[in-house]
Amino acid sequence: MIRPFKLGYANLATKDTKAMEDYYTNVMGLTLVETGDDGIRYLSTGLDHHNIILTPNLESNLQVLGFQLGNQYSLHDVKIRLKQQGISTQLKSDAQPGLPELLEFEDPDGFLVHLYTSMETPAPHFKENGIVPNKLGHLALGSMDPKKSVAFYREVLNFHYTDRIGERANFITCNSDHHVLNICNLGQFVGRPVMYHIAFELRDASHQYQSLDFLAKNNIPTLWGPTRHTAGHNIAAYHHDPEGNLVELYIDMDQLLPEVGYFDPRPWHEELPLKARHWEDNAAWGTGYENTLYEFALQKYKK
Ligand SMILES: [Fe+2]
Repeated sequence: MIRPFKLGYANLATKDTKAMEDYYTNVMGLTLVETGDDGIRYLSTGLDHHNIILTPNLESNLQVLGFQLGNQYSLHDVKIRLKQQGISTQLKSDAQPGLPELLEFEDPDGFLVHLYTSMETPAPHFKENGIVPNKLGHLALGSMDPKKSVAFYREVLNFHYTDRIGERANFITCNSDHHVLNICNLGQFVGRPVMYHIAFELRDASHQYQSLDFLAKNNIPTLWGPTRHTAGHNIAAYHHDPEGNLVELYIDMDQLLPEVGYFDPRPWHEELPLKARHWEDNAAWGTGYENTLYEFALQKYKK
């Protein structure tokens, strides 16, 4: 069975790569590890060679989702197993700095998926300045066909299904975090597959407040939140990066206990034990949910 254990990196196509580099280094507090001759920037949250890749492009969107597999896997064997499922892949050597080998294929929306088992470490540690998140936590994909995409990640990479909000969003995970992917129907409104948002995990409420203050000092307004979601129960706040991508900073995400099929119980859970379920389209604290955020995302892509 093939299942990655983490979302390792996101490759973002960027129109103004310099502005994005400034944002990711000076505001988000990632470290620029390497710049390729082609202008591609590789940035690290702390340990891995890279967790964010910025690729100069005429359009801004998500290009690649990189997932790390445990070192018990051989990419050659994974390639054979995926072929048996009718998925054609490319095994690439030295395609990216810090990554000796990766397996590449497309998901149903055409986003590229990379699987890899080892990445060069350590990067230059966590920085002292900027937001400095713990990790890249999840990606929200604006799919053209969320059901098809969810089925793909569940069948091919054995993601666990964890929740659904209205007809809008589907949450799946490859580890204990409530979601590593949120596959939503934004693509249907935009007319093409797009990234809905990218999310970084912070340490605690104090870190979240400091981060929102820091954003304000850098003239970056918080667009929505902080408030607690229903699905995932993460306390989330969203802002725009320089290209208008929605960036979520969150804490307190539900942790899945796959052995029993429910989430680690918390006092604020609406039911005990809390299992995967269908939520209405709102947030746990009564704040209107993603209509607002969808509007922000649509503003970017409808331009
Ligand atoms: Fe999110």
